[in-house]
Amino acid sequence: MNRPGSVLLVDDDVAVRKVLAALLTQGNIAVTEAGHGAEALEKLGKTLVDVVVTDLRMPGVDGMQLLEQVTARWPDLPVILITAHGSVPLAVEAIKKGAADFVLKPFDKDELLFTISKALAKAKHQAAAPASAAAGSEGELWGESQAMVEVRELISKAATGTATVLLRGESGTGKELAARQLHQSSKRKDKPFVTINCGAFPDTLLESELFGYEKGAFTGAVNRKLGRVELADGGTLFLDEIGDVTPATQVKLLRLIQERELVRLGGNQTVKIDVRFVAATHRPLEEMVKRGEFREDLFYRLNVVPITLPPLRSRGGDIALLATRLMQKLGPENARPKLRFHPDALALVAGQSWPGNVRQLRNFIERLAVLSGSDDEVSAADVERELKREATLLGGNIAAPSSGGLDERRAQVEREALLEALKKSNDNRTQAARILGISRRTLYNKLAEHGLE
Ligand SMILES: Nc1ncnc2c1ncn2[C@@H]1O[C@H](COP(=O)(O)OP(=O)(O)OP(=O)(O)O)[C@@H](O)[C@H]1O
Ligand SMILES: [Mg+2]
Repeated sequence: MNRPGSVLLVDDDVAVRKVLAALLTQGNIAVTEAGHGAEALEKLGKTLVDVVVTDLRMPGVDGMQLLEQVTARWPDLPVILITAHGSVPLAVEAIKKGAADFVLKPFDKDELLFTISKALAKAKHQAAAPASAAAGSEGELWGESQAMVEVRELISKAATGTATVLLRGESGTGKELAARQLHQSSKRKDKPFVTINCGAFPDTLLESELFGYEKGAFTGAVNRKLGRVELADGGTLFLDEIGDVTPATQVKLLRLIQERELVRLGGNQTVKIDVRFVAATHRPLEEMVKRGEFREDLFYRLNVVPITLPPLRSRGGDIALLATRLMQKLGPENARPKLRFHPDALALVAGQSWPGNVRQLRNFIERLAVLSGSDDEVSAADVERELKREATLLGGNIAAPSSGGLDERRAQVEREALLEALKKSNDNRTQAARILGISRRTLYNKLAEHGLE
């Protein structure tokens, strides 16, 4: 989809900001500006953006602190740092803290635009966007096993009403995808699909994210801010990781779901809401209820329509189908439109247990799409090589274990990936960076780290 994205540009130097803003605007990117970190956080509370681009050195809340706050509050929102030549080690530290990328000053226009477009393409921070835009090409829940057919039936039945749905299942089994599909099949599909990851916020922040606040509710509340419940009005609110909510907030959620009304923090007016709730967790809620960690009344409020997504290993027959379809989708996205599995290669993939479920399988297929030797066919050797790499990455979860600590293994995998990308691109660094999905600067930096310059 060709959606021009939006960027929050943070720099205390007005001149630099204006030059950057002009550049991005030319590239069809919508720009919101902030002169310092605190202003950036305030704007993020009110405006939806896809990517944050920030200078590292700023008075007050600097780029690094801004990064920390953004990753804590909006974990899916990518942050790109702009930094002077002398501060590469800081930039590397930023990457470790979760920055999407960094660009060195003085910046190369093409590189900057490339880095930002890449982050925009990946941006998932579309909490309040209409589901049609947010779901993008993520599409349907695939699978022809009896269990998956039943899941789809349950979803389409549940979609006709407004009863609360509780999605269960291991990590990576498709709970979020199921929630989106439920919204898409419902009468609410043209209204917002809003998600909140309840596990990503400390208590007070979670409440202000959910319920919003009035101007002056606390220091820093300079304007009224609507919470995600109100943003979802008329649509669906996806309460992800509901098992991570503390008892104090559980009470407030119970009231919200029961009464269908809320009071913004610092306010005294009751706001009626029309929201369909869908919750998800991989945690054993029943056991948590027994242990007194999860309120029983809330559990029953949520568990009106329970839907459990089966793990991939219990529906082995779906693996080949998923792998084939994922390749049909991810091949073209990675400039390999013709790429298909050799039957032996597919059999190898289908024979694995995939403890990380569809998410792990998807990532694996994407890596094959990028790294397989031919443009036409994924060979059994390609799969074997990548399985070995996967085992290293996961500390021996799938195939042969290897020696060394986790950091060491990661470094080894990284080094191999670098060498392979260089080989594939005939030592063309720009192309190698693209193959790896990182900016040229990051590539140079990684090469230096591994002594491969
Ligand atoms: N049945 C399926 N068909 C196609 N794609 C799927 C299916 N199930 C999951 N996926 C894909 O796998 C990835 C992980 O799915 P999702 O994020 O919905 O998992 P989850 O259950 O929410 O995981 P977690 O508990 O870790 O948050 C996504 O890219 C999703 O599109
Ligand atoms: Mg999820």
